[in-house]
Amino acid sequence: MHIAVLAGDGIGPEVTSQAVKALRALAANGPQFTFTEAPIGDAGYDQTGDPLPEATAELAERADAVLFGAAGTYESDLRPPEARGGHALLRLRKRMDLFANFRPVFAFPELIGASTLRREVIEGVDLVVLRELTGDIYFGQPRGIVTEGGERVGFNTMRYTESEIRRVAHAGFKAAQQRRRKLCSVDKANVLETSALWREVVIEVARDYPNVELTHQYVDAACMLLIRRPRDFDVIVTGNIFGDILSDAAAMLTGSIGMLPSASLNATGQGLFEPVHGSAPDIAGKDLANPLASILSAAMMLRHSLGQPEAATRLERAVRRVLAEGLRTPDIMEPGATQVGTEAMGDAVARE
Ligand code: NAI
Ligand code: MG
Repeated sequence: MHIAVLAGDGIGPEVTSQAVKALRALAANGPQFTFTEAPIGDAGYDQTGDPLPEATAELAERADAVLFGAAGTYESDLRPPEARGGHALLRLRKRMDLFANFRPVFAFPELIGASTLRREVIEGVDLVVLRELTGDIYFGQPRGIVTEGGERVGFNTMRYTESEIRRVAHAGFKAAQQRRRKLCSVDKANVLETSALWREVVIEVARDYPNVELTHQYVDAACMLLIRRPRDFDVIVTGNIFGDILSDAAAMLTGSIGMLPSASLNATGQGLFEPVHGSAPDIAGKDLANPLASILSAAMMLRHSLGQPEAATRLERAVRRVLAEGLRTPDIMEPGATQVGTEAMGDAVARE
């Protein structure tokens, strides 16, 4: 199995190398991997003048799966898109047509004490946000800033075709079938035409999945329910912008952004696997970053793109054992636990 390793910027290389270490440890008595590294983000721009070098994009398309770190830094965020490290990821997602972004949110029993939320709310939380990733107001045309009647006006277009909605709805129902068979579609159908169509199409698709219970929530109500009764959710399917916001909110249920993996898949099953977090320039190069989001992303890669569910489970169990032993990076530190750095956390998971 050939894995493209695009570690990128900031803590990207630090955490991604821990995931590669864990995969190598699994290979000692399991699936075999070859890894090819390539630059992306500011690293790509500095080496080739393009944040997404053509050779990197081709490698990603050719590989069985992509393990991604993070792209961009605060400095490059201010440059025009063609010189902006973070823009590379948007381009790669679009180019590989990675429309289905799965962000699982799982409250590790070993970590409940590290969360700032009440135990009775988060205990047992196990949900997945499925965010559509290639459409919506982030890409819709027309968009721009113009002058009208003597003042500037900014505008974007929220746009979905029914085929775009249908394919992500199918992905949502299929994910629900593998889990607790509950799908909640989140929209704003009371005010937005895009959402009215979204809801109609999701209801049509539901006919193919009679064993899945479909519910609908407006995005504002969904935010409230997510904080108040997160256990009620199994799979949430939603558009690009609502999914962006909801998944960051849901992320905080578990304690740290450093714990959260994600998978972005296309129709052929190809995928890009990455931690939800960014390049964290504030802690880069200091051996402080939590590598577990990257390691858990590698587990998702094993399960969803490489057909290795047993290896995925082994890796997830190793993470839980290390947490049970009391090892903690600073972001999840709690009284009585043992604080370790990025490398030591990666070593512990590899050992387990
Ligand atoms: P961020 O996720 O990089 O950092 C937010 C906060 O979380 C920081 O305080 C950071 O120290 C902490 N944090 C993040 N990951 C952590 C980890 N593994 N362990 C411990 N603490 C962790 O988000 P921010 O600050 O908004 O963005 C930083 C840069 O990353 C920006 O240039 C942004 O454009 C880029 N970015 C890239 C993403 C990607 O490649 N997928 C996603 C989000 C941001
Ligand atoms: Mg976000």
